[in-house]
Amino acid sequence: MIKIEKLKLENLAEFLLVFKEILTTGFPEYSAALVDFLIGKDYSATVFEEKLKNNQWFVLKASLENQLVGFLLADNLYGGVSYCNWVGVLEKCQGQGIGQALLGAWEEEIKKVGGHKLTLITQSRKNMDFYLKAGFKQEGFEEKSWFGLDCWLYGKVIGDPKPEIFLK
Ligand SMILES: CC(C)(COP(=O)(O)OP(=O)(O)OC[C@H]1O[C@@H](n2cnc3c(N)ncnc32)[C@H](O)[C@@H]1OP(=O)(O)O)[C@@H](O)C(=O)NCCC(=O)NCCS
Repeated sequence: MIKIEKLKLENLAEFLLVFKEILTTGFPEYSAALVDFLIGKDYSATVFEEKLKNNQWFVLKASLENQLVGFLLADNLYGGVSYCNWVGVLEKCQGQGIGQALLGAWEEEIKKVGGHKLTLITQSRKNMDFYLKAGFKQEGFEEKSWFGLDCWLYGKVIGDPKPEIFLK
């Protein structure tokens, strides 16, 4: 049974171990130096603490038998849109529906707060089917984008834009 819930700050240390493992093993398109840079700087423990406290980010964690095995990190709503920074599942647990369950839980979470759109990018062609399967559309392509890698933009409209929410 996959359990998905929001990460609480008190569980940040446990989460960071899995975050580091997934970044280190799951993104062969990123060099070791780039992964070190991301973990040490833009996604360091301090940054996580600050962004989670300020409600800029939220993390959905996926557990199997109480073990954290995957996560999705997204921005809270701006203009009715939520951007997913990262989604990943431990290698040994991939292919069991955990990634799709995380995308579904993100969608539910954003619908609940009145958002109308989900967006993300991928820098690896092999992930495309994963997003298409979840109802995302490819909405763009950028050549030699972030960190010098090609980049595919994906989006999914999940409702009508609601000015009463995003202009509040
Ligand atoms: C991409 C990822 C999150 C998918 O998670 P997962 O739990 O293995 O995926 P699921 O089991 O829910 O669904 C996989 C479905 O998508 C398809 N798929 C397409 N690309 C895939 C990929 N790169 N990895 C796994 N499944 C993929 C599978 O065929 C499968 O379909 P099926 O159920 O009909 O066989 C996981 O492989 C991962 O963590 N990869 C490394 C990190 C990464 O690339 N993250 C995305 C960055 S943009």
